Amino acid sequence: MRLQLSTLPLFAAFAAAKIYYAGLAESSGEFGVWSADKIVGYGLPGRFGVDYAFINKDTVSKLVDEDKINTFRVAFLLERMCPLSYGLGAKFNETHFDFFKDAIDHITVTKGAYAIFDPHNYMRYNDPSQQPMTGSVIGDASDPKAATTAQFAAFWGELAGRFKDNEKVIFGLMNEPHDMDNNLVLTNNQAAINSIRAAGANQLIIAPGGGWTGGHAWTKTYPGNEPANAVVMHKLTDPASNTAFDIHEYLDVDFSGGHSICNQSAATNLAPLTAWLKQYNFKAMITEFGGDNNEGCHDLLDEMLTYMEDNPEYIGWTAWAAGPFWGPNSACCTDQRQLGSLEPGSKAANGSPGMYDTVWRPTMLPHVPADLQWEGISSINGPAGAGNATAARRSRRSSRFSK
Ligand SMILES: *[C@@H]1O[C@H](CO)[C@@H](O)[C@H](O)[C@H]1NC(C)=O
Ligand SMILES: *[C@@H]1O[C@H](CO)[C@@H](O)[C@H](O)[C@H]1NC(C)=O
Ligand SMILES: *[C@@H]1O[C@H](CO)[C@@H](O)[C@H](O)[C@H]1NC(C)=O
Repeated sequence: MRLQLSTLPLFAAFAAAKIYYAGLAESSGEFGVWSADKIVGYGLPGRFGVDYAFINKDTVSKLVDEDKINTFRVAFLLERMCPLSYGLGAKFNETHFDFFKDAIDHITVTKGAYAIFDPHNYMRYNDPSQQPMTGSVIGDASDPKAATTAQFAAFWGELAGRFKDNEKVIFGLMNEPHDMDNNLVLTNNQAAINSIRAAGANQLIIAPGGGWTGGHAWTKTYPGNEPANAVVMHKLTDPASNTAFDIHEYLDVDFSGGHSICNQSAATNLAPLTAWLKQYNFKAMITEFGGDNNEGCHDLLDEMLTYMEDNPEYIGWTAWAAGPFWGPNSACCTDQRQLGSLEPGSKAANGSPGMYDTVWRPTMLPHVPADLQWEGISSINGPAGAGNATAARRSRRSSRFSK
């Protein structure tokens, strides 16, 4: 930090823990491709509004107006944006892109909130038929069918370039890379960042680690998660200094988000990650977490949200998940019971209130800060401006003196 003395009082406020972005993951754009028989291309391109959809505009509006959240993480599939016949890259299915843009514009332009792009592809492309396990790992030189790192970068350059003038977008590079060389996760992340910046887009980027980008495992090594994220990911650079890490953290015994019983303390399990973020001066967002409707989960969710509020390394979060197509199904944490989702109006299979009412409202909503960011470019520094010490300093000054 190269701050002048005169800015020190401002710096003190700026360094305090602060959540700038809070809201929900919108999951449904990736739906409709599961094939019990593993048929490659099953459900592609799919019927928009029938097999998949990005958001329900009415519930997004309600969440902004009534729950005052400012962030939505919007899942989509690379194989729909870049059909298999085109390959991964800068050539998009424009019809599909228009559906996606319409959802992003509703969130960002109509409602003035922030939208995280979520290619829900596990760093794989070409066969989502049994996601998360199928498909060629992007950049895997030993797989002749795999898309290359250069193709991944071309995809991101094109997508980011199309949104370079929309300050309210956040580029989530990839959902949950897993079971691949973590050095390749780093390489792909870096190529995407360079390409986004070369396209003239300076908004916040959030980059995943390997190992399903689990916070608890950031410093750990196990088969399929090597080398540890902690030993490779600090090498990531961003010419615009506006990249944070995208972390997922569930509270059940195996961190999968599959189970009803929460007994993993995020405050304990995230501590090594937090120390690592501090050491390398990085920020993080937690874009997937959740819990069932029971006392153990409510307590640990409360603890986790408080932990993020107390530690300045964490700048935002989105809970998993809302979305128009969940019906009575649950996005996480119920041992397959149909208890509904975090979508407003959601109902469990037995007609009782869904997890929007039983988990979101009592436990998560009280943690939505009253002073989230509503103006300006998405940034590791929140409203202080782009991730650039000079620009951040200037905009803090002008906001102070232009009041
Ligand atoms: C592009 O998307 C539209 C709308 O989903 C679909 O009808 C069309 O078949 C897609 N094209 C390709 C090449 O996948
Ligand atoms: C960083 O600040 C400089 C000087 O104000 C500006 O030219 C540049 O575009 C800024 N970078 C970002 C990412 O905002
Ligand atoms: C969580 O519960 C499981 C199953 O009951 C148990 O095996 C595990 O040790 C518990 N973990 C913690 C951290 O309490």
